[in-house]
Amino acid sequence: MEFKLSEEHEMIRQAARDFAQQELLPGVIERDEHQQFPTEQVRRMGELGFMGMMVSPEYGGGGMDTVSYVLAMEEISKVDASSSVVMSVNNSLVCWGLEKYGTEEQKRKYLVPLATGQKIGAFCLSEPEAGSDATSQRTTAIDKGDHYVLNGTKNWITNGSSASVYLVMAQTDVELGHRGINCLIVERGMPGFVVGKKEDKMGIRGSDTHSLMFQDVRVPKENRLGEEGFGFKFAMRVLSGGRIGIASQALGIASGAYELALKYSKERKAFGEELHKHQAIAFKLADMATEIDAARLLCLKAAWLKDQGKPFDTESAMAKLFASAVAQRVTTEAVQVHGGYGYVREFHVERMMRDAKITQIYEGTTEIQKMVISRGILHA
Ligand code: CAA
Repeated sequence: MEFKLSEEHEMIRQAARDFAQQELLPGVIERDEHQQFPTEQVRRMGELGFMGMMVSPEYGGGGMDTVSYVLAMEEISKVDASSSVVMSVNNSLVCWGLEKYGTEEQKRKYLVPLATGQKIGAFCLSEPEAGSDATSQRTTAIDKGDHYVLNGTKNWITNGSSASVYLVMAQTDVELGHRGINCLIVERGMPGFVVGKKEDKMGIRGSDTHSLMFQDVRVPKENRLGEEGFGFKFAMRVLSGGRIGIASQALGIASGAYELALKYSKERKAFGEELHKHQAIAFKLADMATEIDAARLLCLKAAWLKDQGKPFDTESAMAKLFASAVAQRVTTEAVQVHGGYGYVREFHVERMMRDAKITQIYEGTTEIQKMVISRGILHA
């Protein structure tokens, strides 16, 4: 076993780091403050190949592995977690799902513009009364022969107003429970599809999170993704991969905050010497560095398993569970190292502390990850 990245992986990491420093850092505080979607930055991510990293070049993607995706997500999340969630949902929930389960026509029509970053995708599972309990879908897709009629409401949808392509889970046959759920590809602009309220969030404020309403939306049969009744399993499979992306986002938020704390501890003096010369601060930095390294190893292991075609559901949940908790602890300690400066906007760490919290909530809460892991280890 060798703990060394390939030259190509190092290049991808460096490219993501350069992009984040040069193009995401300017304006990140203002975008957070004004809840401004990073339109131009996401367009650039598309140009640079970050929006469809794992999609094969045949469909306009970068043909990269999941390890590359983890490296890029960490670097981009170090600087701007709002931009990285747009990237993560597009890459791992929408593009990956379309490439793995879509028909050739669906890939040509929807995957190519998403992988090249010309369009943005959204994944629509959560509902007002079905978040963690995802089988309790109330949105319906009634089979009308050559099309479905979609009715219902989705909540907390990342990229809600900026997306053009939406993967929507809906119940076609209530009697069948989760086996009656389908995933439909819904386009922005289909009559009856309305983008609802924008959420005023604690963190990742640059990303747009909306509720969506579907009122008698006519969706052609050819827009169903996968076999009839495959929608719930589709969502679960896609979310397993998505959790590697969110774990890497949490890792990036933590390592971004740690780097700022480390730098500050070398610049700021108290009681006659630099902060890091005080054991109270040095030990905080030691804990942060250790936890970040452990989180990174879990992320890379889950990514490697996925790339090898091996089962990774348990490992992706472990990576997300641990990395999101590390993001909480490290960002809180980074604020502490900065003292009063950490509590004000211009030093970035207070934003990172706010951004970190969502990584314990979306794509399955901490409690859901523990359910997935315990089932994985107990029924293995
Ligand atoms: N792959 C394939 N199939 C799976 C699966 C997986 N990873 N996990 C479960 N399934 C299948 C099961 O085998 C079962 O099928 P059968 O009955 O045919 O055997 C079916 O799905 C139902 O599974 P369970 O009985 O285990 O379902 P459950 O109700 O007990 O709960 C759960 C499962 C893991 C808790 C699930 O509901 C879950 O993951 N909930 C969290 C949902 C979530 O992550 N939401 C995030 C929203 S998206 C988001 O946040 C994106 C964003 O904006 C950033």
